[in-house]
Amino acid sequence: MSAARIGPIAILTGAGISAESGLATFRGADGLWEGHRVEDVATPEAYARNPRLVHAFYNQRRTRLRDPRIQPNAAHRAIGELMRRWSAPVHLITQNVDDLHERGGAVSVVHMHGELVKVRNDRTGDVHLWDGECWPETPCPRSGETGVLRPHIVWFGEAIMEAERIDAALADPTLFLCIGTAGAVWPAAEFVHAARARGAECVEFNLTRTQISEHFDRTIEGPAGETVPAFVAELLTTMRVP
Ligand code: APR
Repeated sequence: MSAARIGPIAILTGAGISAESGLATFRGADGLWEGHRVEDVATPEAYARNPRLVHAFYNQRRTRLRDPRIQPNAAHRAIGELMRRWSAPVHLITQNVDDLHERGGAVSVVHMHGELVKVRNDRTGDVHLWDGECWPETPCPRSGETGVLRPHIVWFGEAIMEAERIDAALADPTLFLCIGTAGAVWPAAEFVHAARARGAECVEFNLTRTQISEHFDRTIEGPAGETVPAFVAELLTTMRVP
């Protein structure tokens, strides 16, 4: 790319950025999410119907995240470096519930779909850092009540988290980077429109073109672990004060 204008950058990431770290993406070829239909594990109705199944699903994913083989990859680390070195704000919004951005050096992460490493008391709203398993009979560490802790995850049909920080991130970017998302889930799929409306250059990174590619200035096809570090390196070496 040509010499970059230094200005705020907004980055949106999805499951594709964590794929090379060994975490499954959502929309696999079989239409299942780690063997489950989304409606069975990622909706408030599913949780009301069978909390044990839903807890089991997220317990399994939390355990997987703690597998020593699951580590941030070069794309996570490149974003961390960009956040530390870019001389204007870099806002990182992720749809991912893993903590690989943080472990890859990201300074501040907006988790719009929640976080696996947290649970929430459904009655009080208190959020607790969580490392192990959680079940319907697990007592809330603060109130001692059972049956109230749920995964701190945004399920289908629920409102996203951190809407104000997202609005702020999309208020004035000069560059919008969208990495490893299928663009199938609202509202994240619409962020490119907000960024474009503010005049940002919009670049998509994905293995293939997606259903939202047409809204970007360009799509860089390939594995994020290769394309993102190369892009960031070029951005950092070509940055100049306008
Ligand atoms: N590099 C770049 N892109 C990749 C890679 C890779 N190594 N591997 C996969 N991808 C792309 C796929 O081509 C696909 O477009 O990542 C995208 C992953 O899409 P999804 O699995 O649909 O994930 P995402 O877009 O993050 O899903 C959004 O939907 O299920 C809900 O709440 C869940 O946050 C999730 C949301």
